[in-house]
Amino acid sequence: MAVREILKMGDPRLLRVAPPLSADAFDSDALHLLVSDLLDTMRAVNGAGLAAPQIGVDLQVVVFGSRDTNPRYPDRPQVPPTVLLNPVITPLVEAEEWDWEGCLSLPGMRGVVPRWSRIRYTGFDQYGDPIDRTVDGFHARVVQHECDHLIGKLYPMRMRDFTQFGYTDVLFPGVAAAEDD
Ligand code: NI
Repeated sequence: MAVREILKMGDPRLLRVAPPLSADAFDSDALHLLVSDLLDTMRAVNGAGLAAPQIGVDLQVVVFGSRDTNPRYPDRPQVPPTVLLNPVITPLVEAEEWDWEGCLSLPGMRGVVPRWSRIRYTGFDQYGDPIDRTVDGFHARVVQHECDHLIGKLYPMRMRDFTQFGYTDVLFPGVAAAEDD
């Protein structure tokens, strides 16, 4: 078990465009260790997702997924626990949905971000097996948020209305203390 330090916005390592993994990296000891660290780190803070650049690793690796036991999102739709490498996102509709997001790299903050409401995403798991899913809603939002970390984009860079941006405890007073995803 290794919980890694999560880089915060302002760190230039969050702004890099990560290269894809090469074919010989799949199912390697180094990759399994990285995935294990990402999952341990995400779960330690009850996050909904985490990208390798957030722990300073410049590779196209993200993990995400909700668990029944996640106390932060009891009402959110479940997203299957997923390890996704070299992802490609294709929007399937023009429509956007606007909803609140947080990020472990901006602790204590929330903002409303437009995202495509329905996407197809493809890629590979850590064993090199292909992933190909068509999803919508919260699942689509989480994938878009995490994959943005692979091209140096943090959610404020996607925002268009900064009146809907601020500190979680001010925006949502009385709501149970939350970490960020
Ligand atoms: Ni994030």
